[in-house]
Amino acid sequence: MSPHKFYKHLLASLPLFSLLATLFVDLCHSQTVAKLCNHNDENTLLQIKSFWGNPPSLGYWDPNQDCCQWDLIQCNEQGRVITLRVSLSNDVHGPIPPFLDRLPSLDRLHFDNMYNLSGPIPQSIGKLTNLTAIVILGTNIGGPIPNFLGRLTNLVELNLASNKHTGPIPDFLGRLKSLTSLDLGDNQLTGHIPYSLTRLSNLSSLTLTLNKLSGSIPEFPPQKMSGLQFLGLNFNRFSGSIPRSLGRLPSLGALYLDHNKLTGDASYLFNKNNTVNKYISIGYNNLKFDLSKLDLPRLWGFEISHNLIYGSLPLSFGFLDPETVNVSYNRLCGPIPNGRRFKRANPDIFAHNKCLCGGPLPACK
Ligand SMILES: *[C@@H]1O[C@H](CO)[C@@H](O)[C@H](O)[C@H]1NC(C)=O
Ligand SMILES: *[C@@H]1O[C@H](CO)[C@@H](O)[C@H](O)[C@H]1NC(C)=O
Ligand SMILES: *[C@@H]1O[C@H](CO)[C@@H](O)[C@H](O)[C@H]1NC(C)=O
Ligand SMILES: *[C@@H]1O[C@H](CO)[C@@H](O)[C@H](O)[C@H]1NC(C)=O
Ligand SMILES: *[C@@H]1O[C@H](CO)[C@@H](O)[C@H](O)[C@H]1NC(C)=O
Repeated sequence: MSPHKFYKHLLASLPLFSLLATLFVDLCHSQTVAKLCNHNDENTLLQIKSFWGNPPSLGYWDPNQDCCQWDLIQCNEQGRVITLRVSLSNDVHGPIPPFLDRLPSLDRLHFDNMYNLSGPIPQSIGKLTNLTAIVILGTNIGGPIPNFLGRLTNLVELNLASNKHTGPIPDFLGRLKSLTSLDLGDNQLTGHIPYSLTRLSNLSSLTLTLNKLSGSIPEFPPQKMSGLQFLGLNFNRFSGSIPRSLGRLPSLGALYLDHNKLTGDASYLFNKNNTVNKYISIGYNNLKFDLSKLDLPRLWGFEISHNLIYGSLPLSFGFLDPETVNVSYNRLCGPIPNGRRFKRANPDIFAHNKCLCGGPLPACK
């Protein structure tokens, strides 16, 4: 609540003084906040509200109040609207209005948790070249990820997660060189990861989780992608082997590759060259390699369940946190290192292997 609204609310609860209070508030208002909102921008916002049938959830877009004072709306010093955010408005039915380009100074466009917002991303958004962030998250917006987004080269954040997007990830997203965060998770995207995404050198977070993406995962140039901290490719249909470069990304702190169809070796993900502690999740694949010889670096998570991993648990395993490891459903054998430390661990994390023993499991013979 803005201080102004809060004040009104407070004073409204004192009916005796309400007349005085209203005068007082209006006086303060007219003194401190001159009409700031650009007239055209305010009209456009009211047209958006009317396009959506004046939903009750947008009641706070009140024409009697300066639009720069509306919650979640932000203006620059010239009174131009730079942030348009609508959140948790399930009473908004229908598409994104096709005339958002009438807010030319828009810097952040943010629609989230609007499950009845539907249709495609309108073409007019491609004209808003000052946009640095688009967040359309948790809506019924669908269709392909449109080409015109490639024109918005000032974008630092693009989040289209938990929508109904279909089709491939377009190659032109690779033109968005300023992106630090790209999230296309939880859609119905198909096809492979375009090569262009693997050279977006300012990316710190890439999330493609929960789609129907397939093909092999491309190599990521470690020199170019030196700032990548989070990579989420889990819950897809990726196949083939894990590219070796994923083990050499110097800042990678969290790697999620679980629930795919990956095969072969993954041992190179566990090298000690990284400076950061890692979370590595590669469960539910068809990975097949010998774990015995690995010197596990400090990991704050080690989820390798449901693979074909064989050999024994290396000594360095004994230093991992029992709360964040899971090696179940593999072909491991031999004693659990530092077994005493794992004595109280949930035995599930070791279940369905060839012949693990010690720790929470029956003693070794
Ligand atoms: C777009 O951003 C630039 C740089 O911040 C600014 O000079 C320009 O006025 C903005 N355009 C509009 C239409 O606000
Ligand atoms: C609107 O969204 C709510 C919450 O997701 C949902 O229960 C309702 O069915 C939706 N209405 C329509 C018409 O889609
Ligand atoms: C990448 O990030 C750096 C450091 O924040 C910044 O100086 C540079 O302009 C960014 N590159 C692009 C293309 O935005
Ligand atoms: C670790 O770094 C060293 C020196 O830079 C390099 O020779 C070695 O190949 C790297 N190991 C892995 C597994 O990348
Ligand atoms: C370990 O993974 C298995 C297989 O996915 C799962 O059933 C089990 O609940 C997990 N255990 C823990 C403690 O997370």
